[in-house]
Amino acid sequence: MSRVIVVASGKGGTGKSTVAASLGVAFAGRNRRVLLIDCDSGMRGLDIMLGVSKSLVFDIADAVSGNCKTEHIIYPCSHTNGLYLIPAPQKAEDELSPEVLWQFIESVESQYDIIIIDSPAGVGKGFETAVYPAQTCIVVANAEPTSVRGCVNVRRRLTELGKEDIRLVINRLSKRGFFKMNFYADLDEIIDETQIRLIGVVPESTQVVAAIQKGIACTEECKALAAFRRIAGRIEGENLPLAVC
Ligand SMILES: Nc1ncnc2c1ncn2[C@@H]1O[C@H](COP(=O)(O)OP(=O)(O)O)[C@@H](O)[C@H]1O
Ligand SMILES: [Mg+2]
Repeated sequence: MSRVIVVASGKGGTGKSTVAASLGVAFAGRNRRVLLIDCDSGMRGLDIMLGVSKSLVFDIADAVSGNCKTEHIIYPCSHTNGLYLIPAPQKAEDELSPEVLWQFIESVESQYDIIIIDSPAGVGKGFETAVYPAQTCIVVANAEPTSVRGCVNVRRRLTELGKEDIRLVINRLSKRGFFKMNFYADLDEIIDETQIRLIGVVPESTQVVAAIQKGIACTEECKALAAFRRIAGRIEGENLPLAVC
């Protein structure tokens, strides 16, 4: 059985898709077969990040409605072996129900070690669909009060839905910005407020974003890449240190 991970956050723009794509690359680097499912209907972006936007024809709504076969919606990432993408529907109204996504995942999961679902922001219908099949929930926060509050709402809803494995990623951390803005004294304050166990800290990184937004591999070794590798290892139970910025 594969491990199904959802990446969620209360606020938009915290870096969910960047984290989902980068974790996909990190797991593939650990020789896992990885399927990324974009559930941000109407706002999809993982096809750009995985370098498949030009070849994209069908999406997950086409497969479940019988417009095409399942094999036609699984796109191999152009820059990373072992990483595959299922694009989100182009139109928000084609969003799947939680049960349909669950059934779809059951039909493909034997072919993958890891399935990562990229959720839309907030705790609306799209979120309910994205989190339904997941065992592990990664909640992405930035070190800002509105983002942290969003994560509190997400954690509450995930707990109501019976999710137990909920972990926090603090993304886009810049040491200088953190102390200059002075929203929090330290990261523990964010962890206490969200009441979510921390699994990793990803620094602000122009290298990762420059590559990811062009749909190419980030070949420049940097702290953010190392952070994603550590988070992947920690999700698989390895005793690795948290990222240090
Ligand atoms: N670690 C990071 N360092 C710098 N910029 C980042 C980082 N993570 C995400 N970003 C930027 O933040 C913005 C939102 O990221 P995205 O992954 O699209 O967020 P979401 O999916 O939560 O809406 C993008 O401009 C992206 O390039
Ligand atoms: Mg996104």
